[in-house]
Amino acid sequence: MALRPPVMMVVQMALDQPASQVEIRPLGAVLGAEVIGADLSVPMPRALLDRLRHALDEHKVLVFRDQRLSKQDMVSVSRQWGSLGEHIMQGAAAEDCKEVNVLSNIGADGKPTGKHTDETAKRWHTDRSWMPKPAMATLLYGVKVPRSGGDTLFANTTKAYEALPDEVKSRIEHLEAIHSIEYSRRAGRGVPATADEIRRAPPVNHPLARVHPATGKKAIYVGCHAWKVDGMGEEEGRALLDYLNGFAVQDRFVYCHKWRPNDLVMWDNRCTYHAATDFDTHNEARLLYRTIVE
Ligand SMILES: [Fe+2]
Repeated sequence: MALRPPVMMVVQMALDQPASQVEIRPLGAVLGAEVIGADLSVPMPRALLDRLRHALDEHKVLVFRDQRLSKQDMVSVSRQWGSLGEHIMQGAAAEDCKEVNVLSNIGADGKPTGKHTDETAKRWHTDRSWMPKPAMATLLYGVKVPRSGGDTLFANTTKAYEALPDEVKSRIEHLEAIHSIEYSRRAGRGVPATADEIRRAPPVNHPLARVHPATGKKAIYVGCHAWKVDGMGEEEGRALLDYLNGFAVQDRFVYCHKWRPNDLVMWDNRCTYHAATDFDTHNEARLLYRTIVE
C-alpha cells in the first residue's frame, strides 16, 4: 500500500497547486484538452476542481500526463468528481480496491496473454448506458501501455447531434432507446451477461438525444448497448440506431488518444462515445486502472 502524507501536508500540497498555474490546452478541433501542471496524487483545491469541471463540460475529454497514481489515488481523485459506480461485472473490481476496475492482458507469468484487455470495448459505446444511472465520467489511468495501438477513440456526440439533418432531429426528439447489457454482450459476442448482471441491470430507457445537464446541449446517446427503439418495430428501430451510431463516429467527430505511460484520461460519457483499438496483444503489455463516476 502506498504511504500517505500526513493530513496537514496534503492540505499544504493542495494549496501549492493554485488553479491559475494550471494550463488547459485544447487537443484539437473535435474535442479534448490537455491539463498541464496539475498533480492528481494530492487533493485539488476547490478553485481548480471548478476550473476542471468547466473544462470537462467544454472539451469533454481531459488528458493529464505524467501522473503517478496508485489504485487508492485513483479512488481519491475520482471521488472529488462524484460518487463512484460499482463494477458489477464478475471479476471486474480489483481484489485490493473494489472501486477500481483493472484492465490487463498480463498473465500470471508477467507476460502478455494474447488477449485484448477488453474485447467488448472495441465497439463504440458510452459507459454503462445499460444502467438507470449511467456513468457521468470515466477515469482511465495507463500504468503500462503498448508502444503502438491500444488507442482510445473518442467521438463528440454533441457535435454529431448538431450536424444531424433537421428532419432526423425532429424524428428522434421524443424517442427513447432501450439499453441492455444482455443484448450488448450477445451482439458483441463477448462473455454472456450473467443472471446476476441481468438482475442488477435490467433493460432501461434513455432518450436518443440526451440533454447534457450542465451545458443544456443535446447529444446523440445510443452506442452499442442500445438494443431497440421503444415503441418502434425491431427492423425500423435497428436501422435508426445504426444510422445514428454511424453518423456519430464519422472522422470529422473523432479524436484518437495515443496513450503514454502514466496518462490519466477522463471523459464525459453524456456527450461522447469511445472505442479501444487493437494492439499486439501477444507482445505488448497493457495495464489500465478504471473508475466510474456516477
Ligand atoms: Fe468504455
